[in-house]
Amino acid sequence: MKIRFDATNLHAFMVGEHGLAPSEIKSNIPAAKAAIEQFQLAVKEGKYGFPELPFQTEEHREILAYAAQLQGSYDTVCLVGIGGSALGAWALDCALRGPHPVQKAFSVKNPRLVILDNVDPSFILAALESMNPRRTMVVVAAKSGATAETVAVFLHVKDWLTRSLGKKASQRIVAVTSEHRGDLKVLATQEGYRTFHLWENVGGRFSVLSAIGLVPAALAGMDIRKLAKGAAAITKLCWNRDLEKNVALKAALFHYLMLSYRNKTIQVAFPYSNRLWGVAFWFRQLWAESLGKRTNRAGEVIHAGQTPVAALGATDQHSQVQLYMEGPNDKVFTFWGVDKFPDPGRIPKIKTGLEAFDYLGGQTLAKLLTAERLSTAAALTAAHRPNCSFLLDRVDEEHVGAFLQIMEFETAFMGELLNINAFDQEGVELGKKFTFGLMGRRGFENFRDEFRAYEKKQQGR
Ligand code: PA5
Repeated sequence: MKIRFDATNLHAFMVGEHGLAPSEIKSNIPAAKAAIEQFQLAVKEGKYGFPELPFQTEEHREILAYAAQLQGSYDTVCLVGIGGSALGAWALDCALRGPHPVQKAFSVKNPRLVILDNVDPSFILAALESMNPRRTMVVVAAKSGATAETVAVFLHVKDWLTRSLGKKASQRIVAVTSEHRGDLKVLATQEGYRTFHLWENVGGRFSVLSAIGLVPAALAGMDIRKLAKGAAAITKLCWNRDLEKNVALKAALFHYLMLSYRNKTIQVAFPYSNRLWGVAFWFRQLWAESLGKRTNRAGEVIHAGQTPVAALGATDQHSQVQLYMEGPNDKVFTFWGVDKFPDPGRIPKIKTGLEAFDYLGGQTLAKLLTAERLSTAAALTAAHRPNCSFLLDRVDEEHVGAFLQIMEFETAFMGELLNINAFDQEGVELGKKFTFGLMGRRGFENFRDEFRAYEKKQQGR
């Protein structure tokens, strides 16, 4: 397994004053070392659990045994969840089973994954119509066990299953939730759903390698052992104090310097791989929700964060790159490149006698994609736009498991460097409480009243 991080184009000698001077990097190496030490201490104290997830072989065995029992009885795995309870499974599905919408035809031998992560009725009702309740396994995933979107969609799905299967519906539902709290856990116990649990010290956006990501992945036929193997191997490297051996620490330090020293408040995650497109969306949540914080650990108001943007190469060269080249120089670009494709896609050599056609014949799509990535990096560098690259040898279970784990470690290290708590998300609570108030949930009447006052203010009353 091979994943590299190349920071060359973040240096001043490549991008001028928008890049980093050697002295700036050198003087921050102690901060990077302190970041890893602080985070390691917190993990040892049991505060954060994601680094331990790839080593849970007993749980992986249980999940695989459960999936093996059911295999052949369904052609669709329907995941009901949102945020960290959905994005990881989506990332795994795109990466390992092929980009949407060009996966192989689904069947009981190759079940598809349908992820219901919104409450748009036109999406949910159409999804239900597209699935056969007799050939569907439902995974309902919510760490809190109370997320309004997940609960509302699950009530639809449960009713839809029960209308076809009656009491047997509960055998087609598996819940992934916290062991000791939340109404989903209560319902799962009452109804006898098979249940897998999520550790309290693993936050939703860090949970892709827990049962939250692995149960739907295993039911859909992905090799979760290989995923864990790649993540376990890289975890050992992520604890290495040597910046040159620890890609997660090096990437965190350079992104931190770009944000703090060069005010690059936007990070464009730029995969040149349709298979990694889902990972880019998963990363958006990880980076945004973990690092976007009002205060630091000392309680000072700092409004930390770097806005993550996902762009797809080469597609978005024809949509975003004009802005990236000539617009505000407020971004750092992180290319995600892939060295090897199972089939590089040889371009047919058809002589047309036409300039725009004939030079491409006999080459490969993989070579063109790589040339596009390298050329975009060179062009951005020429425009003094700092950019760096993660390079994966290939997109398979081991590399994907490792890459997800690198991103999580990088985010945790970045949180330490910024001196913020990367593992809470207080900022999403107020909107949730207004929604509960508007939807009539008991105990949230004061938020309904506050919302009404806001409406009146809007109307100038
Ligand atoms: O990272 C997080 O904790 C959140 O984004 C959650 O994943 C998201 O809000 C969904 O929460 P739950 O799993 O409780 O439904």
